[in-house]
Amino acid sequence: MKESVTILDKTFVKFISSDEIDKAIATLAEKIDSEYINDDPILLITLNGAVFFAVDLLKNLNIKCKITCVKVSSYSGTESTGKINDLIGLNDNVKGKRVIILEDIVDTGRTYKHLHDMLKDAGAKDIRIATMTMKPEAYKGDLPIHYVGLNIPNKFVIGRGLDYDGYGRNLNDIYQLKQN
Ligand code: IMP
Ligand code: MG
Repeated sequence: MKESVTILDKTFVKFISSDEIDKAIATLAEKIDSEYINDDPILLITLNGAVFFAVDLLKNLNIKCKITCVKVSSYSGTESTGKINDLIGLNDNVKGKRVIILEDIVDTGRTYKHLHDMLKDAGAKDIRIATMTMKPEAYKGDLPIHYVGLNIPNKFVIGRGLDYDGYGRNLNDIYQLKQN
């Protein structure tokens, strides 16, 4: 793992190793496996960021399940804009199904709330979330976060799907914005 990486105008320092992330994801998969044995859930992948986590999680899952994707955006640079745009909506029928939202990170929780309401309106039987990382200090929502890989401090991070203006998603380890 490199000590630091520079993307555009910002420097990021090493924070969480890929090994630690892999272990956290394997633990999540075990939990989900044991709690969805006969449920045939739909795993909802939030593009673009959650793709990396979704692949790693799915490789560890043994239950029968399907996937579907939606695309939303709320971040501009290192700040949440507070406004969520639906770029690609829900295409599959989730009526009466158990759905697990897959996220790379839960920050304020606005995206989760937005997806939760969308799934509820579409008639999902049960909605949970599995997130690779979460910033508990930033979370402003009331909905429970069911499966969390790693809790992290309220600082901007990149890697494993997490980006700064579209870059850095392909870093295998997680890096944190360097404090000036
Ligand atoms: P929320 O709606 O505030 O919970 O934000 C969730 C979305 O914001 C995530 O899916 C990410 O796309 C983005 N995001 C939040 N924090 C970070 C971060 O530290 N690095 C990169 N993206 C982030
Ligand atoms: Mg995202």
